[in-house]
Amino acid sequence: KGELQKALDYLDSYSGPYVLKADGLAAGKGVIITESTEEAKSVMTEMLDHAMFGEASSKVVVEEFLAGIELSMFVLTDGKDYVILPEAKDYKRIGEGDTGLNTGGMGAVSPVAFANDEFKRKVEERIIKPTVDGLAKDNIDYVGFIFFGLIKVDNEPMVIEYNVRMGDPETEVVIPRLENDLVELILAATNGDLKNQTVKISEKAATTVMLVAGGYPGDYKKGDEISGLDKIENVLPFHAGTKLVGSKVVTNGGRIIAMTAFGKDIFEALEKSKTAAEIVTWKGRYYRKDIGFDFK
Ligand code: GLY
Repeated sequence: KGELQKALDYLDSYSGPYVLKADGLAAGKGVIITESTEEAKSVMTEMLDHAMFGEASSKVVVEEFLAGIELSMFVLTDGKDYVILPEAKDYKRIGEGDTGLNTGGMGAVSPVAFANDEFKRKVEERIIKPTVDGLAKDNIDYVGFIFFGLIKVDNEPMVIEYNVRMGDPETEVVIPRLENDLVELILAATNGDLKNQTVKISEKAATTVMLVAGGYPGDYKKGDEISGLDKIENVLPFHAGTKLVGSKVVTNGGRIIAMTAFGKDIFEALEKSKTAAEIVTWKGRYYRKDIGFDFK
């Protein structure tokens, strides 16, 4: 409040692209990227003075624009030590080829081909270790998952965002690849004993394809009967927006079911995810058929 003019002057002080981010929770939708100074200033005004994203945009972060390919990495920490979980890449836009509005996530793949050992070593040395050490140094007693939203710019990892949680739909490919007992890992974290844990990760790839309601991420209908759930094989269907009404499963949200499958690589897994996605249907059901397109 009262800082709008300062923010507008700052936007005038350099040329775009501008990245404006609502600092609070905005369901993955609180980021606006624009080349135009006028648009950036108008969005800033909407966010700060007209609650464009409600309370979430009462504080706005202006970030450097980074061009590259994104991925997510996750650790579980006990506050001193950490274990690194499988990496993943999610697909946030509603339309094929990463077009259209942002959603809560339309699909995900793991592993991520470009995240080789050398890249992951850089992430660990430059980002993960300093983050966990930094929490301790700042006396922040944090035990739990840390989500590193990263981007690869010229082969170097940069941080886009942190979340103190797992990610969705990344979780639906990360946790299935974890061969450890998750409860044991979580107990070890709460007992401050993660240094004695080794993470075992499946060699298999995992993918997930999100089935969503027609119209999502705009207005959508609820209560449509879902068919085909009894006909799918070789997948793990994660119900996100469904409800049981009598013996019928009906839609009850925007993102309805994440269809996870395994394969020798992400392409084999994606075929299984998509086969099941095609079988499970209701009026207006939509899913992206091109998840993983950027790795072809
Ligand atoms: N998939 C992005 C997130 O969970 O924030």
